[in-house]
Amino acid sequence: MHDRVFKHTEAHKLEDPERLRWLSPAEVISHLRLLPGMKIADIGAGTGYFSIPIARALGDVGQVFAADLQPEMLELLRQKLSQQDAPGNIKLLQGEASGLPLPDRSVHMAFYANIWHELPNHDAAFAEAVRVSVLGGKIAILDWRDDCSPPPGPPQEHRISDEAVVAFLKTKGCRRVASRHVGQYGYMVTAELTPAP
Ligand SMILES: C[S@@+](CC[C@H](N)C(=O)[O-])C[C@H]1O[C@@H](n2cnc3c(N)ncnc32)[C@H](O)[C@@H]1O
Repeated sequence: MHDRVFKHTEAHKLEDPERLRWLSPAEVISHLRLLPGMKIADIGAGTGYFSIPIARALGDVGQVFAADLQPEMLELLRQKLSQQDAPGNIKLLQGEASGLPLPDRSVHMAFYANIWHELPNHDAAFAEAVRVSVLGGKIAILDWRDDCSPPPGPPQEHRISDEAVVAFLKTKGCRRVASRHVGQYGYMVTAELTPAP
């Protein structure tokens, strides 16, 4: 695991109640255009800060695949899911963004929250997103603005601008690439990965 990866020993920061003030899951979800029954891969899910509200928004007929490199992160999420009011439509998967344990064409959206800047190989992660997505599937990349200074967030030199993410997705042939600021320090870029059938 390389240095940029956010370590499970820091997981309490993902659960800091203050975070709800500067990065609201409801705001992020409002830009995802979820529909009941969708299957979403939350790649780099961590402790499930987004997996759980997305699962609730999808309802019982939808499904979230919460994937993470670190088994310790998934264990923290497993503990949250053992609580009484937790949603039952989240499946935990240990895996690399570039080699997800998901079948071809099995999700409607690949969602990356605060992980894109940690990935060592964007081409490989993108290829994997295309492989696991249905035709017409979407990608959503939420990450830290490079015009805001830490704290909170990763060092300035690790950040990737929203313009760079937009340019990357356009180079890959994505359509309807759109970017907006979310919360106090973030941006989210959304796009269609592949044309609809
Ligand atoms: C900063 S945390 C964000 C967690 C969660 N998305 C959130 O916003 O609360 C980044 C997560 O991505 C995971 N991660 C980093 N590199 C990864 C990779 N190559 N494949 C899968 N997961 C990765 C880390 O283990 C960590 O849990």
